[in-house]
Amino acid sequence: MSIHNITSIRNGGADSESEMNQLDKVLRPTLSNIQPYNAGLSLNDVKSRYDVTEFAKLASNENPSGPAPKVLNALKLLSSDLFLYPDASSGELATALSNYLGISADQLIFGNGSEELISIICRSVVQPGDRVITLYPSFPLHEDYARLMGGSVERIGLTKALEIDLEALLKAVAKPAKMLIFANPMNPVGTWLNPRQLKQVIAAKHPDTLLVLDEAYYEYAIAGDYTSGQNCLAVEDQNWIILRTFSKAWGLAGLRIGFGICGSKALRQALDLSRTPFNINRAAQMAAAVAVQHDDHMKSCTAETIRRRELLSHDLRTRGYEVAQSLGNFVFFDVNHPSTEVAEDLMKRGTIIKPWKQVGYDTFIRVSIGTNQENTKFLKDLDAVLPHHV
Ligand SMILES: Cc1ncc(COP(=O)(O)O)c(C=O)c1O
Repeated sequence: MSIHNITSIRNGGADSESEMNQLDKVLRPTLSNIQPYNAGLSLNDVKSRYDVTEFAKLASNENPSGPAPKVLNALKLLSSDLFLYPDASSGELATALSNYLGISADQLIFGNGSEELISIICRSVVQPGDRVITLYPSFPLHEDYARLMGGSVERIGLTKALEIDLEALLKAVAKPAKMLIFANPMNPVGTWLNPRQLKQVIAAKHPDTLLVLDEAYYEYAIAGDYTSGQNCLAVEDQNWIILRTFSKAWGLAGLRIGFGICGSKALRQALDLSRTPFNINRAAQMAAAVAVQHDDHMKSCTAETIRRRELLSHDLRTRGYEVAQSLGNFVFFDVNHPSTEVAEDLMKRGTIIKPWKQVGYDTFIRVSIGTNQENTKFLKDLDAVLPHHV
């Protein structure tokens, strides 16, 4: 795709030739390697577009119960401080989180969502031509920010059983690469490397490769045959970052806050150079600090979500769908029909899911685990849209 096509896409195809020529002179050519992020429609967009009154928003893996009541109460006290810039080092949050996780605050870096941290890491690390290894299908930003910096992305696919191809991954990581980035459990599938497999990958990784282990769904996964990379990395290896987020289990997606646990203080300091100084707003810092001091709400939401995930997976399998094993707060399966058409038909009924669009998976949908009511509505709408499966 040329830059002409990029500018055309960004502006709905309405650019004149001369406008496109001008932009071509200023835009990074690597932008042509990136597709627009598939964020989908907001609830308000869907409400205004379709004449429906009942909704199930199951597209972005949020926690429909939201944050702990204590977090909401704390946010009410914020108003008198809003004229002040936030703490550039997120100091109180770093202390609260370091106590919660039992790690040094010096290793913690915060991002406007963990997606910003992926961008910060790529800006700090990836140079043109660098080899970057990831899984496929994937959280698209793992690839996009690496490509934007000129990285050459190598994808490791899944087995037929929708599991990570461990053999191919072990082979790929043994050779030098600048970065190995993947989510465990992985998005969109929900499959994961168990502790033994993760240790194998870490042991096989070339020592000069930076490991970026995205644990966005960690809180849902720890009840399963799973462990954090934190428990697998050797003390002498400092080339790693673990990413976590407050957007999923902690119910704070709207405030945009995620964090990275860095292999060393020096790595965190280096990454901080590519971070905008006030990237975490006051509300997000406060909410996340209060959240980790009252984790009982998060834990009970998570347990309930896991129960509902198993129920939904079972109900889908009884309809004949091959649902991938998932340790996340979502399920992924093949509807054997163009996913965007199925998503559109569901949306007309008020159910919003994520149609997967990556090549090879464009008949798959990813459905977040919602409330009992939302999950029931999703099944009812799916049965109406794809009746041959009932
Ligand atoms: C694997 C993975 N990493 C990162 C993110 C980004 O999360 P955040 O809201 O913290 O930016 C997501 C969001 O869906 C995700 O699935």
